[in-house]
Amino acid sequence: MIQENINLKQHNTFGIEVNARRFATFSSIEELRSLLSEKNDDSLLILGGGSNILFTKDFNGLVIKNEIKGFEIVDETEKFVHVKVGAGEVWHEFVLKCIELDYGGVENLSLIPGSVGASPMQNIGAYGTEIKDIFIQLEAYKIDTGEIHIFNNEDCEFGYRESVFKKSLKDQYVIVSVTYRLTKEHLINSNYGAIENELTKRGITHATIRDISDSVIAIRSSKLPDPKKIGNAGSFFKNPIVDHKIVKEIAKNYHQFPHYPAPNGKVKLAAGWLIEQAGWKGKTFGNFGVHKLQALVLVNYSESKGDEIYDLSTRIITSVKEQFGITLEREVNII
Ligand code: FAD
Ligand code: EPU
Repeated sequence: MIQENINLKQHNTFGIEVNARRFATFSSIEELRSLLSEKNDDSLLILGGGSNILFTKDFNGLVIKNEIKGFEIVDETEKFVHVKVGAGEVWHEFVLKCIELDYGGVENLSLIPGSVGASPMQNIGAYGTEIKDIFIQLEAYKIDTGEIHIFNNEDCEFGYRESVFKKSLKDQYVIVSVTYRLTKEHLINSNYGAIENELTKRGITHATIRDISDSVIAIRSSKLPDPKKIGNAGSFFKNPIVDHKIVKEIAKNYHQFPHYPAPNGKVKLAAGWLIEQAGWKGKTFGNFGVHKLQALVLVNYSESKGDEIYDLSTRIITSVKEQFGITLEREVNII
């Protein structure tokens, strides 16, 4: 059923008050098909958990929220289990279920907000793992034809916070299910410095997937604001990937700064560090600002407007550009 003039505050983790002219949820492909038959000429927004979106104005169209559920084992070998998951499942609930069943591969991605269906959109990643590492395929509904298409790992053109669905196939598909390859014999990935430190603190030498999940949850909770308390959408910007000569330039003025090897001889810098050096960390402007523990996260303390936060992001981009000659790119989807 399509509702009119719905407040989206509860549907975006920034907690921005905007209205959707029309709003509906769907929990099956049939319901999705029927909703889209009533789309008419309206613009369309597909919503999962709303944890990677900044609304800067009312949405003058149809918002459809994915609530397709499901968790099905579609293949199993001695070492692996292939699980097909409904796109409307909550990502972290899926992770916890995997830990409970002793299926490995997603533990480093614990506590990322949002839906399973959005996980391939930007190839979610954290603490040394990206979704592309465990992704087999997804099913997606083509909006203009109503056909279901299957995309394998290569088809998705995954990159750092990128996929084909943000580029050449933007706004063309609704992802309805994702199939992941999970392990029964686990490959523990504790290389990320913060995880190693947390395990040492806990006195753990042989970590299980549950230990990794618990550690990641502890690390994240210690520095990322909980959207239930402070509105935010995680990292607002991507970490910039630059040529080595830029690193040399920065090294002239700073003895130590975080940087990591990236593909094709490039280097990934920490946007949080750049923003902190530019003096923005913890800055508050009335009811919004830059988080005090993580400069990459912009926050809405209460009732701020999306365009105020967007303007702040523009000022940050300008100031980092002036100081370091690097142009930060927004990671959050701006509507
Ligand atoms: P939404 O915000 O609802 O949508 C995001 C985009 O995907 C929109 O363009 C939307 O139209 C589209 N979309 C959503 N579902 C579908 C679908 N089924 N079919 C087609 N298009 C769809 N991200 C990381 O990668 N790593 C992190 O560590 C991380 N940490 C975070 C921490 C916090 C506190 C927060 C608030 C966010 C964090 N994020 C992180 C960002 C966010 O959690 C992810 O991008 C997540 O995958 C978004 O899921 P969602 O369902 O909320 O997507
Ligand atoms: N740093 C600072 N100041 C800050 C923030 C960070 O100096 O205010 C430095 C840290 O000290 C560290 C480095 O920057 O040396 C990296 O920081 P952190 O480990 O917190 O990770 P990040 O690069 O800021 C990325 C992702 C996160 C993901 C974490 C963990 C992006 C854009 N962000 O953050 O993803 O959870 O790594 O893997 O790649 C998200 O996408 O929303 C998100 C939260």
